[in-house]
Amino acid sequence: MAESSEVLVVSAPGKIILHGEHSVVYGKTALAASIGLRTRVRLRSSSNGATRLHLASLDISREWRLESLSHAIPIIDGIRNPAPPQADSMLILRQLSQSDKGDIEDSALLVFLFLYTHICSASALPGLDVEVGSDLPPSAGLGSSAAYCTSLAAALLAATHNISRNPSNGRWQQEDLELIDKWAFRAETLIHGNPSGIDNTVSTFGGALSYQSGHISELKSMPTLRVLLTNTNVPRSTSTLVSAVKDNVNKFPDIYKPILDSMGAIAVESKRVMEALASGTLPEVSVACNTLESKDDLFCVLETLIDVNQQLLMALGVGHPCLEQLCRVTRKHGLHSKLTGAGGGGCGFTVVPPDLTTCRQMGYLPNVQSRDCTHLDALPASETPG
Ligand code: MEV
Repeated sequence: MAESSEVLVVSAPGKIILHGEHSVVYGKTALAASIGLRTRVRLRSSSNGATRLHLASLDISREWRLESLSHAIPIIDGIRNPAPPQADSMLILRQLSQSDKGDIEDSALLVFLFLYTHICSASALPGLDVEVGSDLPPSAGLGSSAAYCTSLAAALLAATHNISRNPSNGRWQQEDLELIDKWAFRAETLIHGNPSGIDNTVSTFGGALSYQSGHISELKSMPTLRVLLTNTNVPRSTSTLVSAVKDNVNKFPDIYKPILDSMGAIAVESKRVMEALASGTLPEVSVACNTLESKDDLFCVLETLIDVNQQLLMALGVGHPCLEQLCRVTRKHGLHSKLTGAGGGGCGFTVVPPDLTTCRQMGYLPNVQSRDCTHLDALPASETPG
């Protein structure tokens, strides 16, 4: 454990999914990138026989006496291979995490207790003082829960000396990142049931990546793609939306599976076009333009793919009138938008054409803002965990 005077600070970013939300749950390729909004954990030892958690953005503080947690400590098979949560210890942890504030709050407390009792158990539960703050709006499709799980897992693994930063550059080693990712994924299952794993993976490894069934490939040759994020401020639940899509797929597989296939194909095509944009070579075939003569043509393909995917997501049943409004308003100004994350509200993004030097030049912003949306600015991908 960290010395009592020592404060350990870890942060992890949120994400946007460029293409592949929902279809990634069915094993299709998805493209995602980390964003500049982060969740930060500050952790220090406490010697008063209790562990305290303060979640600033949810306005919750809770304290548990260590003896009340002792019978919830699971028997785990080492720290390197986190197994699915065990029913008996989760039953106790669920009772200890009731907040009577709401589901988001209960899940946040449960995730903390799960990671804390599982990661710290080997060293006999230490008293901790943990503070969590976040730039990420909750339930908005920007991976706030994954950033929470990732930063907590990293902080607890670091506090128990299961991972350590490389002294020369201050970064975690690859095997440490993989361990953080495994624990963050287990914690995510407590919130989302059966997530694809893309959110915790982006939050852990950062940058831009392509993801399929647990396999990641970093998108090294990414063009500088600027996006403007707009939060519709319509809250929604990822697990509810994912299970509504699942119901539809189960009821009408011949109708919904081709939509998921198309979404996967869009992600693959989009990756190809972005690589071509970055390298300056034009691909042979394209879905959108008759001839490909310049970078502008390639950008036009990217925009078309965004429009098509937005329509497919609406057909899947995860649209929302506010997201449609965002697309309509931006289209009037020649710009292309789509939802990001589970949909049903939350955030959408608009691709910023290379010739627009500042977001403020986009005349549509006042229109979007007057409809209760929040403009979150064009965000570059960022590294993590930090
Ligand atoms: C949530 O950010 C993305 C979804 O595809 C769910 C998942 O991948 O687990 C909707």
